[in-house]
Amino acid sequence: EMAEKEGYNHFMIKEINEQATSVRNTLTQREHIQEIIDDIDEGIQRICFVACGTSYHASLTGKYLIESLAGIPTDVILASEFKYSANTLNDKTLVIFISQSGETADSLKALDVANETSKTLGIVNVAGSSITRRAEYVIQTQAGPEIGVAATKTYVAQLTSIYLFAALLAKNTELLEELEKVPDFIDEALEDIDFIKEISKRYNYARDFFYLGRGYSYPTALEGALKLKEITYIHGEGYAAGELKHGPLALIDEGIPVVVIAPPGDSHRKTMSNLEEVKSRGANVLAIGSADDDALKTKADDIITINPEVNEIIAPLVYVVPLQLIAYYITLEKGHDPDKPKNLAKCVTVE
Ligand code: G6P
Repeated sequence: EMAEKEGYNHFMIKEINEQATSVRNTLTQREHIQEIIDDIDEGIQRICFVACGTSYHASLTGKYLIESLAGIPTDVILASEFKYSANTLNDKTLVIFISQSGETADSLKALDVANETSKTLGIVNVAGSSITRRAEYVIQTQAGPEIGVAATKTYVAQLTSIYLFAALLAKNTELLEELEKVPDFIDEALEDIDFIKEISKRYNYARDFFYLGRGYSYPTALEGALKLKEITYIHGEGYAAGELKHGPLALIDEGIPVVVIAPPGDSHRKTMSNLEEVKSRGANVLAIGSADDDALKTKADDIITINPEVNEIIAPLVYVVPLQLIAYYITLEKGHDPDKPKNLAKCVTVE
């Protein structure tokens, strides 16, 4: 096992460090994805994503991308809740199953139902898995084997496939060019490892964490909170920043950590006002934002910076990296094994 970790202490940190490669290798699927689109594009009136866990968060990002870039109505359904929507599917629906393992029982069950009426596409990491055999079309994410239970490099590979799919569907050449730069942005984000390790020591006291993001950054907030829950056993809640006033604000008190995901773009201004709302109630704000965001630097207690070229649209591929690292280092501080969280399995084969 030590040999397989290639000098890293855990699979999780090894896999976090492999994310630029994971994205780069998945970008090679562009032509194959174009072929799938050429084959199915005509007549598709609606897209439905079906997934669980981290794959569900990748799917949510897909909804934002496809609806805003291609204008096709898109739903995201948890595989375990799928049966209530099955009646709405027809031959003009494309159902996309996102799954690292390709074996999650709820997703497989939903796939069998969707195959009866609709076109189906699997976005799957494990080659030869059940979803790759049963879906009509398959995109193979190129993350390589992932051992850590908490998904990291397979998440960015799923996102890469979805970004390619959405950009090709919308014929958005600008976004396709941006995607080529993502591996370098990820590697730059990883250069902050020592700083994030230090910050994590200051946050491991917490019992509850909030993660706030708007628009494209909302699924990132959910994923950051999931990573925290899975391996640190601290309660973490991801919220759409605009929903803050509708409940969680009542829980914000002196010293509660709030991670604010604030990349540059349309939603930045409103996210900043949410930051001020939690700050004025005593929250301990850890912001993730652009390296040239001076306003954010003055308002946050701590800030982790990302290359200013990473705008809010491609931010999900890069801003998740510090969130994974925060969860990883808090877990080490608490003395838990990040690779084998209690009660969780890498692949859930029961419904
Ligand atoms: C389990 C894993 C998660 C994963 C989820 C969905 O809960 O621990 O990391 O996101 O299953 O798995 P899938 O293989 O379908 O992506």
